[in-house]
Amino acid sequence: MHTAAIYPGSFDPATNGHLDIIRRCRRIFPRLVVAILDNPRKQPLFSLQERIEMLEALLQDDPLIEVLAFDGLLVNVAREHDVRVIIRGLRAISDFEYEFQMAMMNRYLEGSIETLFMVPDQAYTYLSSSLIKEIYSLGASVQGMVPELVAERLRELSKR
Ligand code: PNS
Repeated sequence: MHTAAIYPGSFDPATNGHLDIIRRCRRIFPRLVVAILDNPRKQPLFSLQERIEMLEALLQDDPLIEVLAFDGLLVNVAREHDVRVIIRGLRAISDFEYEFQMAMMNRYLEGSIETLFMVPDQAYTYLSSSLIKEIYSLGASVQGMVPELVAERLRELSKR
């Protein structure tokens, strides 16, 4: 019986929707690995180090959550950490096609790993990191959409 799960993503930046999924996961799985994709080709707003630090700070109250960075195949990281469950959040039907393809590809790559989809609180169904970055850069408030720490880092970034 495998009781750990891995929640992968870019987390650029982490939103309240991500945190909601993480908390829900922890009600089901005693151990959770939050895996941040290190993909410079995606040209993230926040460096990998910044994304790691933010998530570690946000999740520091829970010793059974491990935050790590990865490159390469997700299934390899899952195997290395002895995890057989990949968690992905589904906000809307429009997410489904891409998520379905990823789940099938990951199953092709490693048949013993299952993808589970979780639905965030409906307050967060319209949130995405890219829309948050867009509206923030255009001067809108992101209060309530991201944790205060992330809002603070966004403010610092815009001063750089
Ligand atoms: O939050 P995102 O950007 O939608 O997350 C995408 C992520 C990190 C889950 C996905 O890009 C990924 O798993 N990348 C690692 C490379 C890999 O394993 N690709 C094959 C899976 S289809």
